[in-house]
Amino acid sequence: MPAAPDIRIVADGREWAHQAAALVHAISEAAIEASGRFLLTLSGGATPKILYQTLAAPEWKDRFDWSRIFFLFGDERCVPADHPQSNFAMAQAALFQPLAIHLDHIYRMKGELSDPSAAAQDYGETLRRLTQCGPPDIPRLDLILLGLGEDGHTASLFPGTAALRDNTGVVAVGQAPTGVASRLTLTLGVLNRATVVLFLVSGSGKAPIVRAILEPRSEVNRLFPASMVAPTQGQLIWMLDRSAGAQLTIGH
Ligand code: 6PG
Repeated sequence: MPAAPDIRIVADGREWAHQAAALVHAISEAAIEASGRFLLTLSGGATPKILYQTLAAPEWKDRFDWSRIFFLFGDERCVPADHPQSNFAMAQAALFQPLAIHLDHIYRMKGELSDPSAAAQDYGETLRRLTQCGPPDIPRLDLILLGLGEDGHTASLFPGTAALRDNTGVVAVGQAPTGVASRLTLTLGVLNRATVVLFLVSGSGKAPIVRAILEPRSEVNRLFPASMVAPTQGQLIWMLDRSAGAQLTIGH
């Protein structure tokens, strides 16, 4: 039975980023203690950029043992790695370059490949090799960062899409209704296998969907992709800034 989500509402902006950084740090320490390394799966979009910049800032960067940390991606747009819409490009600028992270510590989804299914297969094989996990088992990642769209999508698992129904694969081809349509995404199976899933949500625009997911008032609300993220043997944490959590009854 999945554990209830750990919902944290913190002050807007700077405090939210620092509390998220502290959480990532604590999880990294536990993972390195347990297995000698930390597999950190990054989220895309705009929200996590302030966290990445905080991790690379003087106040935090020296607290991490970057030599033992390996970066994965929860999803990627099917664009070249230097494209403005690339999640890798955002992480490269905000995190990898400032920290001089060596390329052999970064496992990038190959969004540039002309065949997204081949790219999904390639990344699935990479994850299986990295975690020494063969089919039908699902690779277990230490921490997966996730964002939330106003339609309830997370990673590139959008409502009503085939990727959301992929119960056996590791990486699927997602279809987004706006922006770059073709995406690569970890499946729900991988998300729900993780040791820790951390949703990072900020801004008042997300308050309605946050309430619909965390305090559903109808069964329909349980159909959002983000509502289906419930790690079976892991921890689910929602880190909300005050604006994003404004419509929740908890914390008020
Ligand atoms: C992506 C993300 C996606 C994102 C949400 C929220 O590739 O865009 O994986 O799931 O987290 O769309 O995006 P914002 O943080 O930009 O609001």
